Amino acid sequence: MCGIIGYVGRSQALPVLVQGIRLLSYRGYDSAGVAVHDGTTLRIEKDRGRISDLAPRWDPATLAGSTGIGHTRWATHGAPNRVNAHPQSDAANVVAVVHNGILENDLALREELEKAGVTFRSDTDTEVFAHLFARDGGKDPVAAARELLDRCHGHFALAFVHADHPERIVAVRRGSPLLLGLGVRENLVASDLRALAGRADAVVELGDDQIAIVEADDVRVLDKSGSDVEVVRRPVEEHERETDKAGFAHFMAKEIHEQPERQYELVHGRMDTVRGHARFDDLPLQAADWKRIERVDLVACGTAYHACLYGAYALERLARIPARALMAHEYDARQPRLDDRTLVIAVSQSGETADTKVAVELALREKARTLAVLNVPHSAIGRLVEGVVDMHAGPEVGVASTKAYTGMLTSLLLLALAAAEARGTTNDEARELIAALDAVPDAIRRTLARTEGVVADVVREIYRAGNMLYLGRGPDAATALEGALKMKEISYIHAEGYPAGEMKHGPIALVSFDMPTVAIATAGPWRDRMLGNVREVKARDGLVVLLAAEGDVDAPKVADFVLPVPSLPPLLAPIVNVVPLQVLAYETAKRRGCDIDQPRNLAKTVTVQ
Ligand code: G6P
Repeated sequence: MCGIIGYVGRSQALPVLVQGIRLLSYRGYDSAGVAVHDGTTLRIEKDRGRISDLAPRWDPATLAGSTGIGHTRWATHGAPNRVNAHPQSDAANVVAVVHNGILENDLALREELEKAGVTFRSDTDTEVFAHLFARDGGKDPVAAARELLDRCHGHFALAFVHADHPERIVAVRRGSPLLLGLGVRENLVASDLRALAGRADAVVELGDDQIAIVEADDVRVLDKSGSDVEVVRRPVEEHERETDKAGFAHFMAKEIHEQPERQYELVHGRMDTVRGHARFDDLPLQAADWKRIERVDLVACGTAYHACLYGAYALERLARIPARALMAHEYDARQPRLDDRTLVIAVSQSGETADTKVAVELALREKARTLAVLNVPHSAIGRLVEGVVDMHAGPEVGVASTKAYTGMLTSLLLLALAAAEARGTTNDEARELIAALDAVPDAIRRTLARTEGVVADVVREIYRAGNMLYLGRGPDAATALEGALKMKEISYIHAEGYPAGEMKHGPIALVSFDMPTVAIATAGPWRDRMLGNVREVKARDGLVVLLAAEGDVDAPKVADFVLPVPSLPPLLAPIVNVVPLQVLAYETAKRRGCDIDQPRNLAKTVTVQ
């Protein structure tokens, strides 16, 4: 969703802002803009469209200056057009502001400002901040920022430039993330570490209700009462710096191919190979705590929710704890019964998803125990929970999540194995999983190599389809849902995933020659029943793409195409089985000429409810 970049230093701000906007693009946006101060005048350029079209229209001579702010907007209040794009400004154009988040008392403040004679130009909630800050922002920026924190409800990350202060950016944060990037004789402001790539060696995470006064040689942080707060610097780590596609056509392809290595690192970071158990000494939940837990609620959205479906399966099966996966946005509506014997696990790539964060806040209010499985531990959710399991997938840029999904699955499996050990429920299945975990990276590698050719044939057959069906059983029901989500997200083919047993209760009515079915029949007790479902599809002229274990001699007899995957225990299979489905979605989207890394209307990180 929306992204913020700000620069104050000795270089020209415009190229830094444009580069920052490019790096933020992966979050999803519909318009972009910049404001640059040249020491005398504050100038704004903005419009609907992609940065590749907009930047050539922004004249570096007109937009000269070494202080500026930039923004990518994903429309919430008002249509995506030039007027509503950020930066927003006040009537006299003395203030430029960029904003992420939502101002909740927008209408009341707007009315009050209108009564005081202010004329609004845009439909955005953001414009309110510009008018409010314009009152005192020139004379006393800290007082103006404190007034905003007092009067404004909701969550917001803001960066202001004031015409009277060409050497300074004022940043304010409540809820939405905001970082200060520290460089050499220059400093930056950004909503996301990625936007700082190549310019900042250290960052300061602005806390909730904090204000920052950012100048080229100085950064000051203050709390809501106006008192100075210690500035805590954190060096930017090597793995957080990745920005390029490493020779792949898209970030999504790169991220799919990174999975073997990421899995290897994740497993080896957590497994004590000598004693054959998963290590989570860093978590506040130790053996006695796991024994007290009576239920686990896994909460998330999108791909992460699919990981929760799998995680609930693994926890219940291995650690014998009742566990359920819940969409985070539905969590509070059911008024879940929570206490300190309930463990709420939030799963999130970004750690910033608004609905997931709200679910965690509910869990904290009700005194439940909390953990989060995250790819960005220094994130809003990471700061809230008792303990974080870092999936170590590395920065994920493609909007369609791939390596983070397999990172979530493996993290949840390792957690379930640790919980099983703590609760004394480790059985032969758990021991078999521990022994086979090491095989996962190679199984993914082999799958990538072996399925490439088949996927090309399948794509030729399916790329014109209007609808698709994905079926799986047991833990691979989650794989079916995730495979379908990948397909619809990036290729825009309508695809639905179902636990295969549900097929006869509805979806079978749709089966025909022009609705391809992808069926997962690789593992365990479900294989035979899956093949039965496949026959039912074939009997109705449906085209079947079957994921089957290597060497399964029945598979080619019942399916039109077979995607072979190495045979693994049922709870490990989903980590590998999803990979050919990611590739299938990717190649189909490519064939259909879609914008793979930034699919229409989608955002990488959904920071509004
Ligand atoms: C958005 C993204 C999805 C992601 C979901 C949850 O919808 O497009 O790819 O799965 O948010 O994001 P999270 O960062 O919480 O995993």
